Amino acid sequence: MTESSTMQVTVQNITTSLKDKPGALLPILHAIQDTLGFVPDESIPTIAKALNLSRAEVHGVISFYHYFRNTKPGKNTIHLCRAESCQAMGGKHLENHVKSRLGIDFHETTADGQFSLEPVYCLGNCACSPAMQIGTEIYGRVSTESFDTTINEIEASA
Ligand code: FES
Repeated sequence: MTESSTMQVTVQNITTSLKDKPGALLPILHAIQDTLGFVPDESIPTIAKALNLSRAEVHGVISFYHYFRNTKPGKNTIHLCRAESCQAMGGKHLENHVKSRLGIDFHETTADGQFSLEPVYCLGNCACSPAMQIGTEIYGRVSTESFDTTINEIEASA
C-alpha cells in the first residue's frame, strides 16, 4: 500500500468513527492531525462527503485555525513562543535568528525535512523567557547561541 493510500484509509476510518458526533468536523480534524501529523488536502473530499459539507467549507475551517497544518511536519517541530513575556525578553530578535538559521518562516519545514517551525502563545515557562519547545522538551532563556547549539546537536544526531 502506498503512503498516500494508507493515509486515505486512516482518514476514512477516523471520519467514519466520528462523523455522527455533534460538531464532528473539529474532532475529525484533530484526530487526523494527531494521527498523521497534518491534515492532508486529499482528506478534504472524504470529510466533506461524510459530513454533507462542501469542500470549500472544510477547507475554510482548516485554514481558519492556524493549529491545523496541511503539509507533513518535519522530523522535529520547533514551537517558538511569541507571547508577551518572551517578547519582552528578546523574543523577536530570537525569532528573526531562528527563521534565518533555518531558512524558513512559521508554518514551514526545512528542505531536508528535519525541522518545522510553529508559533506558540505561552509555554507556561515565562519565568525562563524566551522559551521554545522541541518535541516534548522545553527550553528556557534561549539565546541565539543556545538555539544554534541545540539545532547543531539535533542535526549531528540525525
Ligand atoms: S510567554 Fe513565553 S513561555 Fe510564557
